[in-house]
Amino acid sequence: MTTYDAVYQKWQQDPKAFWANAAELIDWDKKWDEVLDESNPPFYRWFKGGVLNTCYNALDRHVENGRSEQLALIYDSPITNSIQKFTYAELRDEVAKLAGVLASFGVEKGDRVIIYMPMVAEAAMAMLACARIGAVHSVVFGGFASKELAVRIDDAKPKVIMSASCGIEPTRLVPYKPLLDEAINLSTHKPSKTLILQRPQMAAELQSDRDVDWAEAMKTAVSHPCVPVEATDPLYILYTSGTTGMPKGIVRDNGGHAVALRWSMPNVFNTNPGDVYWAGSDVGWVVGHSYIVYAPLLTGCTTILFEGKPVGTPDAGVYWRVISDHSVKTFFTAPTAIRAIKREDPNGLEIKKYDLSTFEALFVAGERCDPDTLLWSEKQLQIPVIDHWWQTESGWPIVANCLGIEQLPVKPGSACKPVPGYDVQVLRPDGTQAGPNEIGDIMVKLPLPPSCLPTLWNNDKRFIDAYLSFHEGYYSTADAGFFDQDGYLSIMGRTDDIINVAGHRLSTGGMEEVLAAHSDVAECAVVGVADSLKGEVPVGFMVLKSGVDRDHQEIVSECIQMVREQIGPVAAFKQALVVQRLPKTRSGKILRGTIKKIAEKQEYRMPATIDDPAILTEIHDDLKTIGYG
Ligand code: COA
Ligand code: AMP
Repeated sequence: MTTYDAVYQKWQQDPKAFWANAAELIDWDKKWDEVLDESNPPFYRWFKGGVLNTCYNALDRHVENGRSEQLALIYDSPITNSIQKFTYAELRDEVAKLAGVLASFGVEKGDRVIIYMPMVAEAAMAMLACARIGAVHSVVFGGFASKELAVRIDDAKPKVIMSASCGIEPTRLVPYKPLLDEAINLSTHKPSKTLILQRPQMAAELQSDRDVDWAEAMKTAVSHPCVPVEATDPLYILYTSGTTGMPKGIVRDNGGHAVALRWSMPNVFNTNPGDVYWAGSDVGWVVGHSYIVYAPLLTGCTTILFEGKPVGTPDAGVYWRVISDHSVKTFFTAPTAIRAIKREDPNGLEIKKYDLSTFEALFVAGERCDPDTLLWSEKQLQIPVIDHWWQTESGWPIVANCLGIEQLPVKPGSACKPVPGYDVQVLRPDGTQAGPNEIGDIMVKLPLPPSCLPTLWNNDKRFIDAYLSFHEGYYSTADAGFFDQDGYLSIMGRTDDIINVAGHRLSTGGMEEVLAAHSDVAECAVVGVADSLKGEVPVGFMVLKSGVDRDHQEIVSECIQMVREQIGPVAAFKQALVVQRLPKTRSGKILRGTIKKIAEKQEYRMPATIDDPAILTEIHDDLKTIGYG
């Protein structure tokens, strides 16, 4: 039996004992009454009755236990040419003061705070300050537009919003404050205060006594102690794309989250207290929450917060420069980023410029890692390159090669085996288990392990409808895939209308809602089409209302602009077409899957229920005009 099998079996034999043991790595104000409360299925709660504070576990306890002078956070920003370093003591002090600012605004345990910020150290501080006082943060990615922010404001109903004057993209400054003002204007719920970090690159106008200058507030702030919360109290809400324009508010609790993340660092990532860990993501995504902020700090590591891009800030060597400068041991990024680097530096010349002797493993996730990208990275870096699969909903890896338990042989194209804690199964539509190499729905048997979503924010019904109503007793991941004969899982794609653009999770349904609102559009479809850099990009198809006699290109440009303005530039919605008709089944369902296959030049079977097969030829011809099909 391999070590991995032994650990997996140990979990299987007694999950509660397994997680109770893992929970010993967390400091509790009061131990739990029950490891797992199963009294109200399908709602399961971990560490019920336990009391702790996540910020205490991430900062204060390390200061108290000999790590006060160790670096906790390094902010490395090639885009502004600056680096800032914070020891655990310094970070704790900054966060305690920021928590004092929030408290002075009347923020209390259970209140929500939205954080809409670029990748600056203060974004991580903001999250930790909320955790310190038991407030529930909800970080909104900076690449989302006002309307998306407004939807989240109305759902989370924050007392305060923390933001900054601007974000910095390679070709432009992104003024955040006007976007924030517009969002508050659009939303029904209004925050009582906004705290604005003025960045030197662009100042924001603070209009009323609602807007408070971050630096000014910090000058007179009184440090706030950690507020004990229940293990089952929410730590944060993170909105993620669903099948409609209304995102799902993923809830993360305090206790289970801390336990699972702390366990994952040594066991999945082979990273221990004192090591330097870098996740090249954004705090607006789950990877940023879990592996820029919480897991490394809960573990007593040094974490890196990077403001830049894999290429162009200034070059394709920047990732290797950061790893070398800060002695990074473990690095986590999206395959897209590696593809971008590989495109500019195919022979890895930039890699050879740096001393990467501390670099032990590269982890990739967020989208499917194509074998070429994995093999190229292995060849260039000569270290293990580990694909692993998870979701915003889980908050930590579901399937991985658990490097800290045992390094299993890598099979390119597969994310490896289920992480202890997850009973992953591939099911057929009738609920029976698929055989080896047979594609089916990837499901996780309930109860889910600690850190996974206990529900959706204020929406138990949607939680059940969206995740638990497919096969009784199972959570649906909405991914399709297969186990091979050795128990390795390959993830082949989503079963819903979510697409993955440069590692960013987006809803084509949400984009369709925007297009459908154009006054000339009668109906529309958006499909994700394979892209050699971003994995997938959205392409829109619009059928115009009868009698519309305008220039098609003008309408296309307006539609592209609408998606950019209403969802945000991150949607990367740059290609759309006016078509005469959309292919549908006789019952009226648009054949998006078939359109995707035509665009990707894949073989497709003529759907038996198609309304009019001639439409497929029309769509093929239309796609050729924009370089597809
Ligand atoms: N604030 C404002 N705008 C943002 C933004 C932010 N935080 N992040 C991205 N955008 C904008 C970009 O400026 C770009 O706008 P444009 O259409 O005007 O050029 C658009 O959103 C798309 O951005 P991006 O996805 O970054 O694409 P890109 O073409 O600029 O860069 C890559 C391509 C591959 C370099 C980039 O996608 C990348 O670094 N990917 C890695 C993603 C990642 O780490 N994801 C984390 C998941 S684990
Ligand atoms: P997110 O919630 O943004 O992390 O996106 C989760 C989705 O991204 C998953 O449901 C998958 O569709 C996809 N994904 C994440 N990691 C991988 C991976 N390693 N391989 C294939 N798909 C992945």
